[in-house]
Amino acid sequence: MAGITRVGISLDGTLLKAFDGLCERRGYANRSEAIRDLIRRELVRSEWEAGNQPTMGALCLVYEHERLEVGRRLTHLQHQNRTMVVSSLHVHLDEHNCLEVLVLRGRGRQIRALSDRLISTKGVKHGELVMTTAGAGLR
Ligand code: NI
Repeated sequence: MAGITRVGISLDGTLLKAFDGLCERRGYANRSEAIRDLIRRELVRSEWEAGNQPTMGALCLVYEHERLEVGRRLTHLQHQNRTMVVSSLHVHLDEHNCLEVLVLRGRGRQIRALSDRLISTKGVKHGELVMTTAGAGLR
């Protein structure tokens, strides 16, 4: 395993000030930890964008359960793709609205395709996919 290497970077003063503000708001102890997180995030993103790595996704869906049989359609799609759906969580937000969080496992392209189908299902108000990997090789 490689040890710690110090690197220097040049930044415009305005950009540095904005970055320091971000570090403070997010509670980073120092810039190095914030920069490491940014690098890891981009490396993970490039891994799943390649589409060939085993990937995990967390998909949030918000819908009105009485409308357009949307709940039934979403359940049907999940059953058709049950090997990819690791887990699902259903929250009754209020009288009409539901939040469903799905944990998906597969190749990046498969997860993206299934998520797009679920999000574009008639009656879904909002959907957001977060993809990640185990980040093998990252510390
Ligand atoms: Ni509900």
